[in-house]
Amino acid sequence: MGSKHDFNALMTSIDRPMLVVTTSAGDSQAGCLVGFHSQCSIEPPRYAVWLSKANRTFRLAVLADAFALHFLSDGDQELAELFGGVTGDDHDKFACCRWHPGIDGVPLLDACATRVIARRVALHDDNGDHACLVLAPHETELPSEFAPLESSRLGDIDAGHPVGERPNPLGPDLPD
Ligand SMILES: Cc1cc2nc3c(=O)[nH]c(=O)nc-3n(C[C@H](O)[C@H](O)[C@H](O)COP(=O)(O)O)c2cc1C
Repeated sequence: MGSKHDFNALMTSIDRPMLVVTTSAGDSQAGCLVGFHSQCSIEPPRYAVWLSKANRTFRLAVLADAFALHFLSDGDQELAELFGGVTGDDHDKFACCRWHPGIDGVPLLDACATRVIARRVALHDDNGDHACLVLAPHETELPSEFAPLESSRLGDIDAGHPVGERPNPLGPDLPD
């Protein structure tokens, strides 16, 4: 029988490409760094990302339909630090980077051209600390050269919201 320690050791030994998921609801934008993500169907094409319930991005995602998955390139460490180490509950990340609105106002980060713009299909919650957002790709932008930023190249980033935190699902700053 494997222990939880062994499970954690195995999981942290696996390199993962990093992405930034962004979304918007009402006049608000949100986005965070995500390591838990994967294609989860070929036909129809589907992509899953797991969002921490502690994150502001999760609270907006509950209300949103459109999402942008920005696949970070080696060299995007600053973007990873901004979206992984800072929470939108304390700072406006979108004032610190260049972006423009896509479908439904979803923020598209100018510095990261490799992205999938997608619409929500389902949100699965099995009572863990992350919920699974299943998305249908709407548009994919793939520059000719793409070398993903792997977790092993990230350096130390303290998450803006440790997963143990679970604020009120409808915070005061979110639209009704
Ligand atoms: C290496 C790393 C991987 C992360 N992976 C995820 C993830 O898969 N899902 C998630 O919701 N948050 C993940 N986070 C945490 C969020 O990116 C982080 O808490 C962020 O600051 C939340 O911002 P927000 O509150 O504005 O949404 C990760 C953070 C780091 C440093």
